[in-house]
Amino acid sequence: FYTHMISTALLLASGASAWAAEDTEQLRRDANRLFDPIPTQHPRIEDGEITSAQIELGRKLFFDPRLSRSQIISCNSCHNVGTGGADNVPTSIGHGWQKGPRNSPTVLNAVFNVAQFWDGRAQDLAAQAKGPVQASVEMNNTPERVEQTLESMPEYVDAFDQAFPDSDAPVSFDHMASAIEAFETTLVTPNARFDRFLRGEDTLDAEEQEGLSLFMSSGCAACHNGMNVGGQAYYPFGVVERPGADILPEDDKGRFAVTQTATDEYVFRAGPLRNIARTAPYFHSGQVWDLEQAVAIMGSSQLGVELDDSQVSAITAFLHTLTGEQPEVAVPILPASTQDTPRPE
Ligand code: HEM
Ligand code: HEM
Repeated sequence: FYTHMISTALLLASGASAWAAEDTEQLRRDANRLFDPIPTQHPRIEDGEITSAQIELGRKLFFDPRLSRSQIISCNSCHNVGTGGADNVPTSIGHGWQKGPRNSPTVLNAVFNVAQFWDGRAQDLAAQAKGPVQASVEMNNTPERVEQTLESMPEYVDAFDQAFPDSDAPVSFDHMASAIEAFETTLVTPNARFDRFLRGEDTLDAEEQEGLSLFMSSGCAACHNGMNVGGQAYYPFGVVERPGADILPEDDKGRFAVTQTATDEYVFRAGPLRNIARTAPYFHSGQVWDLEQAVAIMGSSQLGVELDDSQVSAITAFLHTLTGEQPEVAVPILPASTQDTPRPE
C-alpha cells in the first residue's frame, strides 16, 4: 500500500512518467525540424542595416504619447513592454476611450512574423507603425500633425538628423515608422526554456516534454511552427467546428477584408505563441482568459478532437516554456514640448 502511494506521489510530482534519454533526443530532433530558437542577437542589427541612432530614436517614439492626438496614448499604452508587449485587456482602448475591435497582439518578437496584424494586412513593422497613429480608434492623428509635433522640438530634430543622415528631410512620418521598426527589432525574447531545449539542454520536465510531443503529434504544429511557433500563415478559425459568436464575432471576417476572397472569410493568422503565458486574454476577440481553455478550443475548432484534461494540461505546460527573457527597456526621457508643439485635442 505504501509503496503504491509513494509511486503515485512520484508520478504526480513529475506530472507524467519519466522520459528515457533516447526518447528525449528523438523529441528534440523532431522539434528541431519544426521550430527554430529565437536568435540571441538580432541579425539585422549585426548586419549593420539598423543604426543605434535609429533604435534610440525609435525607443523615444514608442513611448511618446504626443504621437497621439490626445497626447496620452503611446504605442506602449497598448503594447506595454513590461507586460509581454500587449495590454492584457480583451480589445484595446484608444482615442476618447473608444473600444477597438481586436485584441492587441504582442510586439515582442513581432519582427519574426510573416506579416503584421491578425489578418496580415501590413507587410512589415514600418508599414504597420503608420496604422495605429492614424486609426481613429487608436491614436487618431494625421501624418502632418505628427511631423509638425516632432519638428517643434529641437531635440527630436537632432535625433532624426542623426538617425537619417543621408536624407534631405530627416523629420518625416515615414522615418518615424522606420525608427519605431528599428526599435521593435530589439524587442525579442531569447533563451526560453524551449529554446534551450532545442539547443540541446535538458530544460523541459516530463510533462512539458509530453506537451511538446502532443503539440506536434496532434497537429497544432501544422499551423503553429517556425521561430515564433505561429505567426507564419493564415487559417480559418474553425477549420472543423466554428467557435461560438462570443469567441468569433460574426462581423469580423478577418482576412476576407484584405483579399475580398470568399475562402478567406473568418481566416486569421495562426497566433504566434511565444510568451503566450504573459499575453492573456486570447484570440483576436480577446474573449478567453484561461490558456487551458484556449488550448481546448483549438483542439475542437481546428483539429476536431476533444483533448482530455491531462492532454490540455501537458500542452499548456509546454506553452509556458515559450516564455523567454523579456527585454529590459529603459523608459526614455523625452524632449520637452515647446510653444510650437500642437496642443492635445
Ligand atoms: C497590432 C505596433 C499603437 C493596438 C500591432 C502590431 C504591431 C503594433 C507591431 C502587429 C503585431 C502582430 O501582428 O503580431 C504598434 C506601434 C504603435 C502601436 C509601433 C505606435 C505607433 C497601438 C495603440 C493601440 C494598439 C495605441 C491601442 C489603442 C493594436 C491592436 C492591434 C495592433 C488592437 C491588432 C490590430 C489588428 O490585427 O487588426 N501594433 N502599435 N496599437 N495594435 Fe499596435
Ligand atoms: C490561435 C494554440 C492548433 C490556427 C491560437 C491561440 C492559441 C493556440 C493558444 C491563441 C493565440 C493568441 O491569442 O495570441 C493551439 C494549440 C493547438 C492549435 C494548442 C493544438 C491543439 C491550431 C491549428 C490551426 C490553428 C491546427 C490551423 C488549422 C490558429 C489560428 C489562430 C490560433 C488561425 C487565431 C485565431 C483567432 O482568430 O483568434 N492557437 N492551436 N491552431 N490558432 Fe491555434
